[in-house]
Amino acid sequence: MAKLSIQSARKSYGEMPVLQDVSIDVDEGAFVVLLGPSGCGKSTLLHAIAGLHPIDSGRILIGDNDVTQLAARDRDVAMVFQSYALYPTMTVADNIGFPLKMRGTNKVEARRQVDEVARLLQIEPLLARYPRELSGGQRQRVAIGRALVRDPKLFLFDEPLSNLDAALRTDLRAEIKRLHQTIRRTMVYVTHDQIEAMTLATKIVIMSKGVVQQAGTPAEIYHEPVNLFVARFIGSPAMTLLKGRIEPLTSGYGFRIANGDGDALSDAIHLPNSDVLRALQGRELLVGARPENVDVSASSSAGPTAVVDLVEPTGPDDIVTLKIGSQTSIVRRPAGAVSQGQMVRVHFPADKVMLFDPASGQRLL
Ligand SMILES: Nc1ncnc2c1ncn2[C@@H]1O[C@H](COP(=O)(O)OP(=O)(O)O)[C@@H](O)[C@H]1O
Ligand SMILES: [Mg+2]
Repeated sequence: MAKLSIQSARKSYGEMPVLQDVSIDVDEGAFVVLLGPSGCGKSTLLHAIAGLHPIDSGRILIGDNDVTQLAARDRDVAMVFQSYALYPTMTVADNIGFPLKMRGTNKVEARRQVDEVARLLQIEPLLARYPRELSGGQRQRVAIGRALVRDPKLFLFDEPLSNLDAALRTDLRAEIKRLHQTIRRTMVYVTHDQIEAMTLATKIVIMSKGVVQQAGTPAEIYHEPVNLFVARFIGSPAMTLLKGRIEPLTSGYGFRIANGDGDALSDAIHLPNSDVLRALQGRELLVGARPENVDVSASSSAGPTAVVDLVEPTGPDDIVTLKIGSQTSIVRRPAGAVSQGQMVRVHFPADKVMLFDPASGQRLL
């Protein structure tokens, strides 16, 4: 049974569709990340789940309850925003305890719950302070604490780390993951940051222009993207993608990388024999591979020829820019494996190669 189910949700602002037939199923206890570029409709969807903005059509179920028509306060969800929205004149303890006060929880019990939440978030020493006396990361912990005391069915986070500097962001990211593993509640988390999505999610939903492009585990999204949008959006450096055509070889098929003018340039990438490839012969396609799966060798005599255009050391490995004819491929190699200006052969392992239709963006292999 899904803990959260969004069924064919649609919403427009005036003439502009912002959610187009969005359907998502979330398991009990999952950590779902809605990932996509700015403006793709993530916040709109999160607000729709919270009941802050209605959808035009479709249904939203939390547990077994159809909440589509329910007001926000009746949905039993808690939301954490990018801006902390704390009450400046209240102490940390009073900020966290505010939802309990509203509920009429007695003072002793409220204090016990506030202390428990503060312990979980490691902010006990801050309880007597005011928001202005806190760092950004501490303020966001307080905002999370205020969501936690409500003990909701569902937690919603809208880019909660965006206002923090890089070091705090990684710290609090780890804290949020630990928190989820401790309390095992269903969480829906919005971000445009692929690293946050990959590190936190049990399930990633990738959106573009109000349409769900793919939903899956981080590994599925990374290794088996269903289309070019997902392939390009996930991964840093981005997936290497080269134009070319399928041609028959003496055994099996090859992908011949195109020069700028469309001529065959160099040795083909060998692909396994398959009916899919036979049907694709002659069409202009894109071949793709993750940067760490592309091998580069100065001693090999097979595979496309390339020149090492740039080497960027990162420590454990180098990010290597290759020029293959007029096309560019960025790969990841062990530190010092190649040097700038070197002529090399590029090897794309047949089992790690993907093919995409450049017109529709669909994955073909
Ligand atoms: N209240 C509104 N009125 C009109 N357009 C809006 C409103 N809220 C959001 N939009 C538009 O809807 C689209 C999606 O916005 P949003 O859900 O905030 O995207 P995201 O959170 O993914 O950045 C954007 O083009 C945005 O400009
Ligand atoms: Mg947003």
